[in-house]
Amino acid sequence: MNHFYITTPIYYVNDKPHIGHAYTTILADVIARYRRQTGDHVFFLTGLDEHGQKVQHTAEKSDLTPKQHCDQMAPHFLNLWKQLQIKNDDFIRTTEPRHKVIVQQVLQAVYDAGDIYKGQYEGWYSVSEERFITDKERASGEFRDLQRISETNYYFRMEKYQGRLIEYIEQHPEFILPATRRNEILGKLREPIGDLCISRPKNRLSWGIDVPFDSDFVTYVWFDALLNYISVPGYGSDDRSFQKWWPADCHLIGKDILMTHAIYWPTMLFSAGIPLPKTIFAHGWWLSPKEDDKGLEKMSKSLGNVVNPLDLIDRFGVDSVRYYLMKEMVPGQDAYFSTESFLRRYNGELGNDLGNCIGRIHTLISRNFEGKLPDPSKGTESELDRDLRVAGEKLLTRVANAITELKVNEAIGQTMEYIKSINVYLARTEPWRLLKSEVQSDKDRAAMVLFISAEALRLGIQLLNPVMPQLVESLLPMVGDLCPDYTGISWGRLVPGTKLAPFVIPFPKIEG
Ligand code: MSP
Repeated sequence: MNHFYITTPIYYVNDKPHIGHAYTTILADVIARYRRQTGDHVFFLTGLDEHGQKVQHTAEKSDLTPKQHCDQMAPHFLNLWKQLQIKNDDFIRTTEPRHKVIVQQVLQAVYDAGDIYKGQYEGWYSVSEERFITDKERASGEFRDLQRISETNYYFRMEKYQGRLIEYIEQHPEFILPATRRNEILGKLREPIGDLCISRPKNRLSWGIDVPFDSDFVTYVWFDALLNYISVPGYGSDDRSFQKWWPADCHLIGKDILMTHAIYWPTMLFSAGIPLPKTIFAHGWWLSPKEDDKGLEKMSKSLGNVVNPLDLIDRFGVDSVRYYLMKEMVPGQDAYFSTESFLRRYNGELGNDLGNCIGRIHTLISRNFEGKLPDPSKGTESELDRDLRVAGEKLLTRVANAITELKVNEAIGQTMEYIKSINVYLARTEPWRLLKSEVQSDKDRAAMVLFISAEALRLGIQLLNPVMPQLVESLLPMVGDLCPDYTGISWGRLVPGTKLAPFVIPFPKIEG
C-alpha cells in the first residue's frame, strides 16, 4: 500500500484563524481524502505553533500566561477544523511533551555534531515574521514590528550546508513547487545565507523550549516549530512509524514562509542526518481590497481585512465554502475573495450544473420507473453511451494526475466539466421523448440512457467527495448509490432496481 504523508503549517495562536489559514488546511484535507479514496494509506498532520515572542506578547496584553493564552486559543482552531469537516490524523501543539523532548534531542545532536556555536548578534528582528532580517530586507520596507537587538546567542552553521542545498534543489525539481518559488529560493542562495540564530536569552524571551546544553536560553521558535513534521510521526521515539511516514510527501505552506521551509528546514535536516521531505508546495495569498479601495493586499488580522470562515459556513454551508475556496484559487497564485464570485460559483456551478443534473435524472426515474434504477440490459449501447463511459474512465486518471500535481482546482474543474457533459448527453439522447413512445425498444433505450446517466453522475459526485464530504453523503443515494464505498472508485457500481433516496434540492438558489 502506498503511504502518503501531508502537512499544513502549524498556526500561530496569537490570532483566530481566517480564510487564509482555512484554505491551507482544506487543501491538505482534500488532497488527503482524494488519496484515501484511491487506496493510499494517509497521514495528515496539522497543529499549532505555540511558542515565541508573538505569542508571549499577545498573552501579556491580555494578562494571561502564555500557556493560558494557548489553551484559550486552541479550541478556536479545533472548532473551526471540526466545522470545516477536516479529517486530520493528528494535531500537534508544540507545548506538548512529545514534541519538546524531540526538539531538545535534535538540538543536542546538532550541537554534538559541531554545528552549533555561541556568538554575538546585532541587527533587526521582525516580531511578526519571528525572524532576524538583513539590512537589505529592512530597506525593502516589507517587514513590520522591527526591533533592534544586540545579544549573545547560539548559532546553527546553516551556511556550511548552502552548497549542498543548491545541489539538492537542482537535482530534485519537485522539491520546491511551483517552479517560480524554486527559482526564488535559488536566487536567494546566490548570496551567502549566513548562520541561523537558534536561541533566545531567557531574560528577553522565556516562552520557549529550553536549550538542552544551556538553561539560560530557549529555542528559537522556527527551529522548534519545523521539527513538528518529524516529532509527530515518531522521530526519536518510534522508528517503525517514522520509517513508514518519513520523508513527508508534501509540506503545504503559504508563500510567505517559503524561506524558513526551503532554507532553514533542509539545512537542519542535513545536519541531523535526516532525509529531506519530497515536496514543499507554496500556495499564494487570499487578498482583500485595500482600505482606500486602490488595489488588493494580503488578508491578515493585523490589517483588519479578514473574512471569517465561520461566517461563511453559517451563510452558505460548509460544502460550498470548501468548494469555493478550492475552485477559486489556482494553487501557487493569489486569489481574491468576493461574495459575487462566491454566488456565481454557488448558483451556477453547484446549483445549475450539478443540482439540476441530479434533479433531472431523479425526476425522470421517479416518474417512469417507480423511483428505481431502470434495467439497462435490453437497450443497445450507442456511441454516445460509450463516449460517456470512456470519458468517465479517463476522468479518473485525469483527476488522479491533477491531484498528484497538487492541482486541486483542476481536478474539480475536470469533474464539473464531466458533470456538464452528462447534461449534454441527456439533451442528445432525449430520454423524455423516448419515454413517450409506444414502441418497447424506445422504452428499453430510455431505461439504458437513464441508467448510464445515473452511473456517470455517481462517478462525478464521488469524485467531488473529497471536496464536499458532508453533502456527497446525501447526494449519492439520490442517484442510487445507497452504501457508497469511499475506499475505491471505478465505473460500474450501480445496481438496477435500487430505490433512489428522495430528491432534496442540494443547492437552493441564494440571492446576492
Ligand atoms: N507558525 C508559522 C508556521 C510554522 S510551520 C512549521 C506561521 N503561522 S501563521 O499562522 O502565521 O501562518 C500559517 C499559514 O497561513 C502560512 O502558510 C501563511 O502563508 C498562511 N496565511 C496567512 N495569511 C494568508 C492569506 N491571506 N492567504 C493565504 N494564506 C495565508 O507562519
